[in-house]
Amino acid sequence: MALWSDRVEKGLAPEVAEFLRAPDRELLPYDCAATKQHAVRLHGAGLLSDDELVQITEALERIAREGGVTDADEDVHSAIERLLGELGRKIHAGRSRNDQVVAAMRLYVQDASEEASEGIRRLATVLLDLADAEAETLMPGYTHMQRAQPVTLGHHLLAWVEMIERDLTRFAAAKVCAQPSPLGAGALAGSTLPLPAPANQMRNSLDAVADRDFALDYLYAVAACFSHLSRVASELCLWATAEYGFLRLPEEAATGSSMMPQKLNPDVAELVRGKAGTSAGRLVGLLAVLKGLPLAYNTDLQEDKEAVFSARRDLRGALAALTVLVATVEFRRERMVEAVSDPQLLATDAAEKLVTEGIPFRDAYGEIARSVREGSFVPPSSAADSVKARVAPGPGAVREAITAARARLSPE
Ligand code: ARG
Repeated sequence: MALWSDRVEKGLAPEVAEFLRAPDRELLPYDCAATKQHAVRLHGAGLLSDDELVQITEALERIAREGGVTDADEDVHSAIERLLGELGRKIHAGRSRNDQVVAAMRLYVQDASEEASEGIRRLATVLLDLADAEAETLMPGYTHMQRAQPVTLGHHLLAWVEMIERDLTRFAAAKVCAQPSPLGAGALAGSTLPLPAPANQMRNSLDAVADRDFALDYLYAVAACFSHLSRVASELCLWATAEYGFLRLPEEAATGSSMMPQKLNPDVAELVRGKAGTSAGRLVGLLAVLKGLPLAYNTDLQEDKEAVFSARRDLRGALAALTVLVATVEFRRERMVEAVSDPQLLATDAAEKLVTEGIPFRDAYGEIARSVREGSFVPPSSAADSVKARVAPGPGAVREAITAARARLSPE
């Protein structure tokens, strides 16, 4: 029975009910939490007795734990009122599903942002341990995908940590953006009932039910994080090729071919990279839903559900699988050292040596370029010396950078 069944004589056509049904089962525990907050407000206004508040609270906790939503329910909001039974007949005073759904989605996004931060911290911790183990492992750094100058694998892994550490800032911001409460907005224009304001109440009822910026902020944080994970993934794919040969894929996180017996493929990294594209699409998709949408609530807004829920699911899975991959991958130090052994990677060092002798850089560049062209270039040092001489933010200070990153990432 729909919450609005008293308004009509006939029910919905089955095709229509099916089409309209909200893909919101995942919202149930969050809606129960938001409904508990609303029950406290009703009690504060004298509209629920002490006893009713206790019973409703307990029932909501049970529903959050046990579920009970069926396909006959239009959405989780209707399901909760149905599952509350007789107790549920008072719960909807002073609210609408329009403020209810935002209240629940805001709690969901706060939780999802927290979960993302935890997953990112786990991956960063593994990367820092690896960076420590590979602090002295020489490898070429690349620009334009051409060998450029010597770095260390530890330094490269720390660059990955920097990227995902910035994501922590974005998820913290997304969590803050989701905190204001829409309760009190009702359907769009508040309520005549003397309900106490929730903490952090949104200032305008029309905006409270129409706004989905907090969902955009979360989807952006996910998309940005995925773009970082996909860059890591792409490098892992390249490094796993015979052409690079910088790593061996672990059996825990690679798959074979159904036809080619010799193969092992970097599927985890590939799927992370693919999902980064889908994830960017979810952000653009919700922006397109919101663009030009008249205030206040319209059912178009129901489209936030699948975007946010699947973004969370994908990011959780990607972070967990990628963490396993990097924790179990075997780096081939000898191949990296071989790739860095070309003395020409020290041409810039040679020019900088001339600069310290008082030669203008452009003249020094010309002199070294000529020696490279003529095949008479002599490196001024080894790759290892070159790396050591490169102060922060270069690869010469990896251990210090690891210590500083560990301090930043340790739980506050
Ligand atoms: N299922 C809706 C959503 O996800 C909840 C609000 C519905 N409100 C309404 N009047 N139909 O946005």
